[in-house]
Amino acid sequence: MRIKLGVNIDHVATQREARKGVDPDPVLAARACWEAGADMIVCHLRRDRRHVQDDDVLRLRKQSKLPLHLEMSSSVEMVKLALKLKPQSVCLVPERSGELTTEGGLAVSDGDKVLRKAIADLKKAGIEVSLFVEPTADAVRAAKKLDADTVELCTTAYATASIPAKVKAELEALQLAVYLAKEMGLNVHAGHALDYHNARPVAEIPGVETLNIGFAIISRAMFVGLKTAVAEMKKTITS
Ligand code: PXP
Repeated sequence: MRIKLGVNIDHVATQREARKGVDPDPVLAARACWEAGADMIVCHLRRDRRHVQDDDVLRLRKQSKLPLHLEMSSSVEMVKLALKLKPQSVCLVPERSGELTTEGGLAVSDGDKVLRKAIADLKKAGIEVSLFVEPTADAVRAAKKLDADTVELCTTAYATASIPAKVKAELEALQLAVYLAKEMGLNVHAGHALDYHNARPVAEIPGVETLNIGFAIISRAMFVGLKTAVAEMKKTITS
């Protein structure tokens, strides 16, 4: 199975919000991603709306040729919005006010009533639901019990490990979590802090269907353009 690339375009909106104008437009970025071979557009609608805005999600849903994967918290406000905006899929993530980026997977437990209701409501509306979790057996089992369709395994610990033994241990944790998730019938995505140097070993884990990557691609785009940056990442993870 060929691995898919979800391109997170939050930081196109971050740049636009620096001047609160209309450029650069995330919808045009989504078009360039599509032209370059991306498989999905990812964006994170945060409570503080510091980059992506509600109208961006609406326009991406209407105008992008690629499926839209919306990252958001499981708050009642966000679930209501997702039900209105109808992305093809949603990834529920933890959100702490003041965080620079998502700080890790959800503290997921099968007794979590808020999460269970969010998942049920979104699924009822035909939206595929992913939970962003740490690559542990407990988290994967809890995601399954909560009836998620997909787990997105958090790759931060792997991607930021600074010594080879730690990189190896974190990659093994990912491999085990992928194996367990597939055994349980879950779809598997992985992402966060992946870049042109560390993404390939994750892409090679059997069972990983999609990598969601943002910051590294948008950063590289400043030097080579977005289409080239996306095409390079696609080549990195598929060839
Ligand atoms: N996956 C999830 C769940 C995220 O929250 C993010 C960041 O918004 C990403 C992937 C992409 O991470 P990065 O920008 O570090 O590639």
